[in-house]
Order: sequence, then C-alpha cells, then structure tokens
Amino acid sequence: MLRLSCIDYLSDTNELQSMASSTIPANFYRVEDHIHSCFEHDNNAPYDSKAMRYESVVRSTLYNFVMWGTTPSDYARFAREALSSCKGTILDVGCGGLCHTARLYAQSGRNLILLDYSIVMLRLGKARIEKLANPFPANIQMLHADAFHLPFAPSSIDNVVSFGVMHLFKPKQEYVSSLLGVLKLGGRFFFTSLTTDRSLSRLYIKYLEKQQELTDGLSSAEVVALFAGKTTTLHHKTIGSMVFIWGVK
Ligand SMILES: C[S@@+](CC[C@H](N)C(=O)[O-])C[C@H]1O[C@@H](n2cnc3c(N)ncnc32)[C@H](O)[C@@H]1O
Repeated sequence: MLRLSCIDYLSDTNELQSMASSTIPANFYRVEDHIHSCFEHDNNAPYDSKAMRYESVVRSTLYNFVMWGTTPSDYARFAREALSSCKGTILDVGCGGLCHTARLYAQSGRNLILLDYSIVMLRLGKARIEKLANPFPANIQMLHADAFHLPFAPSSIDNVVSFGVMHLFKPKQEYVSSLLGVLKLGGRFFFTSLTTDRSLSRLYIKYLEKQQELTDGLSSAEVVALFAGKTTTLHHKTIGSMVFIWGVK
C-alpha cells in the first residue's frame, strides 16, 4: 500500500482540506481508488468473513420485522433526516456496506468520510456507490480505521453518525466517548443501536452474545443513559427494539 500523509489523503475537496489542519498527523495508506487505510497490514476484521451473511439478513424486511420490530425503511429514513439536518462534513463510523445509505450518500453531494474496520465491508460500500454514481463522487472518502482509535483530532469533525454499530461492543461507553470526542462542540450526532426492549429481541440478543456477534445487550433507556451529561441536546425514539439517538454536542 502507498503511504500517504493525512494532507495528501484529505486534499480532495476544500472542505476536507480545511479538516486536514485539524486532524492529528496520522499516516494513511492508499489501498485502492477511493479507499485509504490507517492500517499498514491486513487487520483481519471480524466482518471481513461475515460480510455477505450480514448483508443478506440486514436487508431483509422479514428479518428486521420479526427480530427487531423495524423495517429497513426506518433506518434509511433516519439516515436521511441526519443528512438533511447536518451542515459540513459527516463522518459515518461503521458505515459497513452502505446497504441502507448508498443511494442517499451517492446523491447527497455532502462531504462524507465513510469509516469502517472491515476492508471487505468498505469495498461492498464502494461498489454500491459506483453503481449509483459515475464518476465516483469526489466528496466521498472511504477510510479503513478503528472507531476506538479515530485518526482525527479532538473536537475536529462537524457531524458524526453511526448506525447499528454500538451494540457490537462491550465498552459501549468508550465507543460513545470516542465518537463524541472527535465531534466539534455544536456538531450534530446520530446513532442507532439494537436493544433488548422486546422479549423476542432479548432472546435473540442472548443467542447472538453466545455466538460472539454482539455483547452486553442493553435496553433503550440504558443506551440513552450512555450519552447523559455529554451533550447539549439529546433526543431519542424507539421503534421495536432499535433506539434512535440524536442531538448536538
Ligand atoms: C452491524 S454492521 C452496521 C453497518 C452499517 N452501519 C449498517 O447500518 O448496515 C457493523 C459495522 O461496524 C463495523 N465495525 C466493527 N467494529 C468496528 C470498529 N472498531 N471500528 C469501525 N467499524 C467497526 C463492522 O465492520 C461493520 O461493518
């Protein structure tokens, strides 16, 4: 992989260029067109091997309805609301293969940094954008990086979103702190998380915990409490067993 400085990496648009001055001096490696990485070598991310399995269930209306009491359109709608209320650059942490967001992102014209720990998921996302936008939008950067070691300076990012990711981790508080940590004061955030609110979801989460797919299932109220005292405004709603959280830092 070609080693780049963050200035090289972030030089595509004026918006990202201005961000470069506020990023920490991380090294980025060019993986291929439109994808850069913070990792010099393959990081063997868990989702590299389960990308296709994940994608096949997460797009299913039946799966989402039965297991989580939601529909895929709930996720797409929340992402659309996020984009329309954010100004400036948007960082999507754990963007995955963009199965609910590719169309929105491809057409948005917004400066987007799409970050994921799995290179396989990033490539799926890139392929989806390529199908929808030719040439690939210059305002979209894809970044292979770790949410717990974000390569950005504290309080440097205009907006942060993360859809369906925080339920994966045991240190959920650390996850929230990491993402809110790089968000500017006054910047907007949008998160979603699976919860144990419905009994069927609770049982399924227990099963997924045994499969080491996710850890420490929490209720909506417990997830919302992770944000307490860290933000200026905080809103939330629950559909089925998915909590949607948004606000201003
Ligand atoms: C359940 S998927 C959600 C994908 C997408 N946001 C969606 O709504 O479909 C979780 C994603 O988080 C990514 N992920 C897991 N651990 C991560 C980490 N430490 N840093 C960044 N991304 C991570 C996975 O690779 C995967 O793509």
